[in-house]
Amino acid sequence: MCAKPRSVLILVGMMGSGKSTIGQMLARRLGARFVDCDRLLEERSGVSIATIFELEGEAGFRKREAALIDELTQQDNLVLATGGGAVILDENRTHMHERGLVIYLDASLEELLRRLKGDRSRPLLQSPNMAQRVTDLLAARAPLYRQCAHLSFPSSASSPKQLTQRILAAPEVTRAFCATPPL
Ligand code: S3P
Repeated sequence: MCAKPRSVLILVGMMGSGKSTIGQMLARRLGARFVDCDRLLEERSGVSIATIFELEGEAGFRKREAALIDELTQQDNLVLATGGGAVILDENRTHMHERGLVIYLDASLEELLRRLKGDRSRPLLQSPNMAQRVTDLLAARAPLYRQCAHLSFPSSASSPKQLTQRILAAPEVTRAFCATPPL
């Protein structure tokens, strides 16, 4: 019998690391539900993430994000794409690490800069020196992603399909979802 010890798979990583794309592909393959934390926050509040930042500041956004992570990490058969800053609060890291299987999508700085170039929607990137901002955020957060994650996958060198295959081949994933590894 399959025990399903950890059936919430949680993707962490920087903005632009591919959490939503990979998360949707993984969920489809695992027969699990997919939730993008930011999209659900927007749905529930009726406004964009940028507007939440504008009205409540980053602190207000983090409070909403923490409540949602607490709620979602108690669910079952779910793939969760978190926002890039979800690892900042101790409370979130504990909830994610203890309740789910946490996977860090480890994208290189060069790849992130390429993908995030010209971004107009992410409040933390609306800075005159966006490259410096991404560099600083990555330096501050990389240790937290590593600390929180059970598994890390370099995400720059492969296509979304290849990366999804590699994640699905990890025994921890197969075990958590009672899935069959890809051929
Ligand atoms: C943030 C990342 C965003 C979103 C918010 C803050 C961050 O999510 O949660 O703008 O602090 O890195 P994505 O990683 O999905 O872009």
